[in-house]
Amino acid sequence: MEYRKPTAEERDELLQMILDQLGGQSESAMTFLGLTPAQFAQIYRTTGEVRVVRDAATDVGYVWIEERGRTLHVHAIILRPSARGRGIGTRVFQALVAEFSPRVDEIELGVQDENAASVRFYERVGFRRIPTETAPGFSVMRLPVRKP
Ligand SMILES: CC(C)(COP(=O)(O)OP(=O)(O)OC[C@H]1O[C@@H](n2cnc3c(N)ncnc32)[C@H](O)[C@@H]1OP(=O)(O)O)[C@@H](O)C(=O)NCCC(=O)NCCS
Repeated sequence: MEYRKPTAEERDELLQMILDQLGGQSESAMTFLGLTPAQFAQIYRTTGEVRVVRDAATDVGYVWIEERGRTLHVHAIILRPSARGRGIGTRVFQALVAEFSPRVDEIELGVQDENAASVRFYERVGFRRIPTETAPGFSVMRLPVRKP
């Protein structure tokens, strides 16, 4: 997988894409986290790493990741609509597993229960829902990472 660093404008674009993707649930998620939108934006700017995902020399979307101890947290993966459904998302996760397997035991992410297509996608990649407290309407999913 090819990545590059985002520009400041691209980082802002991903924040907007995340909020658009969350839609009406962004407020309840922030309430659960005890954050105002401004605080969420501040955390976004200072947490983990945003990468532009590239395929065939074209920018196709973004991934926002964070290593937390022996867990890689995927805060967001959002591909441009024209890039979806072509296997790129699957390859992003294969590449993350290959890159981080020496240092992490699992990859974790939160998903909106109503985003059924994404839940199916993550299950196909190997993620499973784990029982844990999280924002209403969201689930945590986990993919164990085998050691190389
Ligand atoms: C979810 C996502 C990262 C998957 O990447 P992808 O490259 O489209 O996925 P792949 O091509 O590897 O796999 C295709 C599967 O992804 C799922 N999928 C999820 N959203 C999709 C979409 N908008 N278009 C096409 N497939 C989508 C489908 O289940 C599809 O399976 P199918 O071919 O049996 O229908 C990507 O579709 C996306 O960016 N979606 C919108 C943003 C989003 O929901 N992100 C997750 C929450 S932050």
